Amino acid sequence: MMTMIPIFQTPLGRLFQADCQVVLSTLEPESVDLAFADPPFNLGKQYTSNINDAKASHEYLEWCQTWLDGMIRALKPGGSLFLWNLPKWNLPLGAYLGERLTFRHWITVDIKYSLPINGRLYPSHYSLLYFVKGKKPAIFHPDRQPILCCRHCGGELKDYGGYKDKMNPKGVNLSDVWTDIPPVRHTKYKKREANALSLKLMDRIVTMASDPGSLVLDPFGGSGTTYVAAELTGRRWIGSELDCSSIIKRFDGLDADREHLSQIHSSKNILFTNADLEKRRKAGKPLSKSYRVSEIIEGACTCNAATPKQSNLFNAS
Ligand SMILES: C[S@@+](CC[C@H](N)C(=O)[O-])C[C@H]1O[C@@H](n2cnc3c(N)ncnc32)[C@H](O)[C@@H]1O
Repeated sequence: MMTMIPIFQTPLGRLFQADCQVVLSTLEPESVDLAFADPPFNLGKQYTSNINDAKASHEYLEWCQTWLDGMIRALKPGGSLFLWNLPKWNLPLGAYLGERLTFRHWITVDIKYSLPINGRLYPSHYSLLYFVKGKKPAIFHPDRQPILCCRHCGGELKDYGGYKDKMNPKGVNLSDVWTDIPPVRHTKYKKREANALSLKLMDRIVTMASDPGSLVLDPFGGSGTTYVAAELTGRRWIGSELDCSSIIKRFDGLDADREHLSQIHSSKNILFTNADLEKRRKAGKPLSKSYRVSEIIEGACTCNAATPKQSNLFNAS
């Protein structure tokens, strides 16, 4: 097996500036706990790496199958594979994966990605395929979600009636439709002109299907969102990208990402976000005492950042 020299590394991760197929062929079989891929979508986009993003459909699918084979080979038994793409491509690629791995979920991620087209429905979701090697995942701890609340007054959008005291203080179950993933637009968190995925999305995937110390693989680095999520949550990672300049620059100063991730962590695995409790307090809407929120004051954050105490906001209403 060929030894390659990483262009960049941290104590947890290694990044190779090379074609992903070459890097995948050097990986130890059955060594990876979580493999994620966000390839180019063959939409004729211009990448700084100057790849051909306008292949014939059959060529694109054959290319995808080649690196998917490499990812499957590298995956441990019980390891998870996630594939992010347009529904158009994930339909045939999902069928391909289904012959080799066990299907878990087609996750719908509600983000508008193009303008309305005459005679077509408005494309409004990405597909996130989730497969495992073998019968079931070795690691599976999905985030729990805060109750959905009105963005003005913080009131619950759904009436939980007499079930309030039965609600898990850590939040509601994560479903296979994700409506809370923001498009990456904010200049403070935007790491590249195009294509960067949201840190919230990658944190959700990384923390669901790996543990601290696990090995995370992403063959299409882009701006390095997967690697940042892995690095900041204590996972080992390995990646490839044809043009690594954005990733190296991003790792030069991770403070903004660290702060962003700490905000993300403080808003998950809790029944009410501090922002919603604050809105309720301002709107004079006290939270029903039936909810067991006071049990979840600390411990929601897993990235060592300070989590504001909820008790202050709760008692104030
Ligand atoms: C959609 S972007 C990935 C974005 C990334 N998920 C993020 O959040 O920043 C796809 C990336 O794959 C890279 N790429 C395309 N073909 C590649 C190949 N054969 N090997 C390695 N990287 C490749 C492109 O340069 C592009 O940056």
